[in-house]
Amino acid sequence: MNDVLVIGIATVDAIARTIDEFPKPGGLRFFDQLALSTGGCAINCSLALAKLGVPCDTIARVGTDMLGDFVVAELARHGMATDGIVRDASTSTAFSFACVASSGERCFFHTRGADDRLCPADVPPEWLGGRQLVFVAGTMVMEALDGEPTAQVLAAARAAGARTLLDTVYVEAMPRAQWQRRVLPALPYVDYFVPSHAEATAISGLTDVAAIARDFQACGARNVVIKLGAEGAFCRSAEGVEQHVPAFRVPQVVDTTGAGDCWSAGFLVGLREKLPMAEAARLGNAVAAHGIQASGATAGVKPLGDVRAFMQRGAGS
Ligand SMILES: Nc1ncnc2c1ncn2[C@@H]1O[C@H](COP(=O)(O)OP(=O)(O)OP(=O)(O)O)[C@@H](O)[C@H]1O
Ligand SMILES: [Mg+2]
Repeated sequence: MNDVLVIGIATVDAIARTIDEFPKPGGLRFFDQLALSTGGCAINCSLALAKLGVPCDTIARVGTDMLGDFVVAELARHGMATDGIVRDASTSTAFSFACVASSGERCFFHTRGADDRLCPADVPPEWLGGRQLVFVAGTMVMEALDGEPTAQVLAAARAAGARTLLDTVYVEAMPRAQWQRRVLPALPYVDYFVPSHAEATAISGLTDVAAIARDFQACGARNVVIKLGAEGAFCRSAEGVEQHVPAFRVPQVVDTTGAGDCWSAGFLVGLREKLPMAEAARLGNAVAAHGIQASGATAGVKPLGDVRAFMQRGAGS
């Protein structure tokens, strides 16, 4: 059993380029190239951990379809445990069709499939014992886990001795009441709440990061980190210490897909090594800085030794 457990969403992404226009009903258009990759915060984070050289266990739900086989095969190919991946014959694996325009801009069609059915029963109590860190990743698109059920899982993880983390995904045009219903019940059981700035704003209705973090702490979260894209991350500890941890500058940003999940992998490694929160966030920034320099969510992530050498060089931080 590994001391890190990641629970959450698994998807397969088909990335099609170049698509500048859609066909009319009944029509057909060509595009140049199709690439298939795994996605979803839990799988991205687990694969980033694998590339860092830190094994973890992963709990997610996929279909019994070929896309589900693909998710399992990708984890196995990177040496990760797959026995926590629940196969569900009643639905399809969550799937995104990403259309990349010649401008580089992407638009997505997504079906939530099996992610909507991931539930507390998929997290057996014996899977929570002996963990140092339990991370739920993908709140907002897990119909059967968001809200109270997540609170239940995190409470059990804490009772078993783990520190808990929670991350959300951004869903456009979602009313604030929905964000709150799906997030707030879990916060009293969260040791590190790590949303992006857009998600944090959607939940709280606030934009100032310090005010947002205080708001989440008033709702029960112990420590809060708000991911700020090219600006890095803002941390507010349980004791009220606030720190802005700047991002690393990179020569070329190739693809920011999964940046937040690479960040989470680095942050988990830092916490696992008992680093102070801001140091763990800096490691998160460094792993994310690798992730964004290659196409694909985790393709740019290097072994931990290389990431540390990059940090020591002070690479633009
Ligand atoms: N342009 C950039 N330059 C340097 N670092 C970046 C850049 N964009 C993102 N990062 C790094 O990636 C981290 C996570 O990015 P972001 O805040 O966009 O998360 P997110 O919105 O959760 O991402 P995701 O789309 O993967 O969910 C940042 O905290 C930062 O360390
Ligand atoms: Mg994210």
